[in-house]
Amino acid sequence: MSLDFSKCSLPAKVRLVEVGPRDGLQNESSFISTDQKVRLIRDLADAGLQHIEAGSFVSPKWVPQMADSADVFAQLKDLSNVRLAALTPNFKGLQAALQAGVSEVAVFASASEGFSQKNINCSVAESIERFKPVLVEAKSKGLPVRGYVSCVMGCPYDGDVPFENVKQVTECLLDLGCYEVSLGDTIGVGTPQKVQDLLSFLLQDLPVEQLAVHFHDTYGQALTNIFASLQMGISVVDTSVAGLGGCPYAGEGGKAASGNVATEDVLYMLNGLNIDSGVDLDALVSASRLFCDKSQLVQRSKVSLARQR
Ligand code: HMG
Ligand code: MG
Repeated sequence: MSLDFSKCSLPAKVRLVEVGPRDGLQNESSFISTDQKVRLIRDLADAGLQHIEAGSFVSPKWVPQMADSADVFAQLKDLSNVRLAALTPNFKGLQAALQAGVSEVAVFASASEGFSQKNINCSVAESIERFKPVLVEAKSKGLPVRGYVSCVMGCPYDGDVPFENVKQVTECLLDLGCYEVSLGDTIGVGTPQKVQDLLSFLLQDLPVEQLAVHFHDTYGQALTNIFASLQMGISVVDTSVAGLGGCPYAGEGGKAASGNVATEDVLYMLNGLNIDSGVDLDALVSASRLFCDKSQLVQRSKVSLARQR
């Protein structure tokens, strides 16, 4: 007897937030040219992705790959039908993002102290203080702000992270005015049961419409964790074309984390579940392959690899 997934409470539609041009590339040691980044973002938009994190306004000393984000946004001014977002860790980052004409910014906090220190050089409480003026100014300019909470399934420095910590930081970001918070399994250690346990805990007090999920695929659990999240009513999923990426400060033992779940692989699963995302798989695979070929980055999407054979 086969399971009828249409009887599960899966969402009819999912919004994919493409983070490849930011989370995917920030970890790459060889510099990807501005033209290549712009071409990738245009191809992703042509494939139907409507929400793309295109860069970040962080210290170029910390993340050199993102040093050209202002140029990337400058070359994409005509993409007005796509939400082009950027990470901003502080007010300085917001000012640069506003000047570059971004359509959305994201602030990022951690559920663990160890990762907060390594990633943004301050405590969790200090990071929240830094975000306050960002949220106020963004609101006054009518700019939507997304939030991230990292290390929700575990921290490379602190180990286990209590669900209560995840809840407190998530609540805090929503209270500050983030329209949505993406829950990051930054080091990809989560498993479906733990994902559902965390979501059950959070959903006692937080609205499902304001939560998104963000899985790295270190232990090969990302797809199944996304499916487990969909079953809990989550309908916004962060993905990265070609499975690019990882956070430079997030790997176990302080090494770089492995890639995000591949957009192609998630889309293939959604298509199989009859869940609408508005993205065309063939166009996405072409974009992914072209980018990996040109930039000589490793293709990590199983779907793109399968289509190549
Ligand atoms: P700091 O050294 O503590 O900051 O860094 P500071 O305020 O003392 O400033 C030091 C220097 O940075 C100064 O320049 C500032 O002007 C400059 P200097 O005088 O030395 O020439 N600076 C900036 N430059 C450009 N843009 C800015 C900015 N702010 C200060 N916005 C800081 C603190 C946050 C800046 C630093 O730690 C940083 O940039 N970290 C980068 C963190 C990052 O991008 N990590 C990866 C993204 S997070 C992630 O991937 C997780 C996520 O995907 C979700 C998940 O997977 O869980 C989102
Ligand atoms: Mg990430």
